[in-house]
Amino acid sequence: MTFRGRHLLGIEPLHPMEITTILDLADDYVGLNRAQDKHADALVGRTQINMFFENSTRTQASFELAGKRLGADVMNMAMQASSIKKGETLVDTALTLNAMHPDLLVVRHPHSGAVDLLAQKVNCAVLNAGDGRHEHPTQALLDALTIRRAKGRLHRLNIAICGDIAHSRVARSNILLLGKMENRVRLVGPPTLIPSGAGDWGVEVYDDMEAGLEGCDVVMMLRLQKERMDGGFIPSEREYYHRYGLDAEKLAHAKEDAIVMHPGPMNRGVEIDGTIADDINRSVIQEQVEMGVAVRMAAMDLLARNLAAEAA
Ligand code: NCD
Repeated sequence: MTFRGRHLLGIEPLHPMEITTILDLADDYVGLNRAQDKHADALVGRTQINMFFENSTRTQASFELAGKRLGADVMNMAMQASSIKKGETLVDTALTLNAMHPDLLVVRHPHSGAVDLLAQKVNCAVLNAGDGRHEHPTQALLDALTIRRAKGRLHRLNIAICGDIAHSRVARSNILLLGKMENRVRLVGPPTLIPSGAGDWGVEVYDDMEAGLEGCDVVMMLRLQKERMDGGFIPSEREYYHRYGLDAEKLAHAKEDAIVMHPGPMNRGVEIDGTIADDINRSVIQEQVEMGVAVRMAAMDLLARNLAAEAA
């Protein structure tokens, strides 16, 4: 086993071997999650606290289930009702929780870098569940596991990441991970939604969907992150769908066996046509959700092992 981290804050510091270690263990947990008895004991006696300062359906639910299936005591902090509303700072809240001796802290925050800062202040393992536009490592890992299982490998694939790249931590973590595993990554979207430095990321950039999808093995769509936009990034949703929404015509440019991915939540009829999202022969969107539980189990299991080794 090679996974040395104390925290899981991003894909950036991970070695390809560490990525493979997490995915291999997650593959085992997929089996457990499909069994009738879904209990294992990797986190028995451990306390996991989930702190979500931003809305979440899939990520929070899967972290909670992952912890419970591995036997942890799991607490979801209702951040809307917490003392943050009374002006307590993020660090004070973290220190308060730290004093209760959690082992795993799962944090989502609207500001890039907030989760790294928090990790410096606490004694437990911190998992980044998405910080601003920065990183969302467990999403990239679950995407990688989904791709590896569908394609039988996680290298030398042509992968198009399409849409609102600029506001997306999912895109950032995926670009890092897929690059480390030696895939060819293309970013496809309107120039207003492609970050200016993207040319230096070792990716190809396209502003035309049909050209960008040509010959791709994987088509990863992203949600238009309207909550992170403060101006006119797109002319209208209708126009956006026309040029960048994934429909059958555009998908026909990808390989015949290309898979379609989306991290959710989806805006049907904005970035993706509903019939494509629901097409079980092309879309692996539900598999992504399934892999999410397994990947979070693997990540927390490995971090807890490292905590135990450190304490020994
Ligand atoms: C993503 C997120 O929150 O970054 N969702 C998720 O975790 N599945 C993507 C998004 O919100 O569009």
